[in-house]
Amino acid sequence: MKLERVNKLNGEIQIPGDKSISHRAVMFGSMANGVTKIENFLPGADCLSTISCFRKMGVSISQSGTDVSVVGKGMGQLKEPASLLDVGNSGTTTRLILGVLAGLPFHSCLIGDESIAKRPMSRVTNPLKQMGAKIDGREYGNYTPISIRGGDLKGINYISPVASAQVKSAILLAGLQAQGETTVREPHKSRDHTENMLKAFGVNLEVDGLTVKIKGGQELTAASIFVPGDISSAAFFLAAGAINPRSEIRLNRVGTNQTRTGILDVLLNMGASVTQANSVTDQAEPMADFIVRTSNLKATEISGDLIPRLIDEIPIIALLATQAEGTTVIKDASELKVKETNRIDTVVSELSKLGADIEATDDGMIIRGKTALKGGAIVSSHGDHRIGMMLAVASTICEEPIQLEGNEAINVSYPSFFEHLRNLSE
Ligand code: S3P
Repeated sequence: MKLERVNKLNGEIQIPGDKSISHRAVMFGSMANGVTKIENFLPGADCLSTISCFRKMGVSISQSGTDVSVVGKGMGQLKEPASLLDVGNSGTTTRLILGVLAGLPFHSCLIGDESIAKRPMSRVTNPLKQMGAKIDGREYGNYTPISIRGGDLKGINYISPVASAQVKSAILLAGLQAQGETTVREPHKSRDHTENMLKAFGVNLEVDGLTVKIKGGQELTAASIFVPGDISSAAFFLAAGAINPRSEIRLNRVGTNQTRTGILDVLLNMGASVTQANSVTDQAEPMADFIVRTSNLKATEISGDLIPRLIDEIPIIALLATQAEGTTVIKDASELKVKETNRIDTVVSELSKLGADIEATDDGMIIRGKTALKGGAIVSSHGDHRIGMMLAVASTICEEPIQLEGNEAINVSYPSFFEHLRNLSE
């Protein structure tokens, strides 16, 4: 796909529903008693993979665009699937569903695409095995295809070596079905949508700093869920508005959960003009409208506790850093190596092709700015939605048009991305 520079970006868009929250709403609705209604669901390929897996386990789910209705009959309705559960490209589907399946007394087998087959699953399958689930797969359950036979779980006290909401959630979902109490502790706080949504479904759990405790044997009761816009999708337009001249973009009803707003902290540190309006804070998940304007950016340093609060935004932050005065350093981010692609490698290789001064390090990258991006190159998403969107935003300021290969990967999290970009472009 050929992508060209724009004069400016102006207008208003509704950012599609949050991917993490959409997955959880379908999963918890499938485990609950009663009908769960989901509004502003993200109909991206990843969340559709979650729907398809639960349908294969016998759950009746109707989906029409962004409206979803899940007919829940409790954990007992989940039945042995007659065929493979295809998780597609979705790490969240894979890891969270393993937590659900760990408690269920039947056999199932998970498969996914080429990227999923390279993503480490032992971070989830090891603790689930410790709880009593029988799991096997390539490299003893580290890589798909993975087969699992669940049931008879015992609670554990787990200290996770990584700050990962997928790990934390899988253990909590297994803990819900285990005897006794399960505790998970993480090294830094990761996104807490599972904790918030389980409470909305009537589950008791205790959160104390970096530790979450849950008692087994609790039932879920259906809920009505409004999914806020995904701040990880909004990030692409926040960046686009900040780096393009004479621009102003309004992004409506975007999630502002504190465990996800690292991108706002970074934009403010870099001197970007981002303001909020219409904030809603009386719901399980808060939200607000964002207004971003053309900004003069300066370099920043990103590390430590901030990393899990913006892990998915690092590709677009790297692009922002190319347009900031000074040297931006991103460290403590080796988790980037096990995302949909090795995002240290893919960000550095693709932005270098456009003319950026960027260097990979062991646990992050160093970007020197400000550089005019020349473009005029063939770049690739490498099948990674966030790399694809970052490159499309980069094209809006490149001197020469670029050719983006693998743009269809963007459907994973933002099917209307190019339509929104076109509507804002002048
Ligand atoms: C997610 C957690 C994060 C994030 C992913 C979605 C979730 O992964 O990168 O896009 O919904 O729980 P990790 O938990 O592996 O950090």
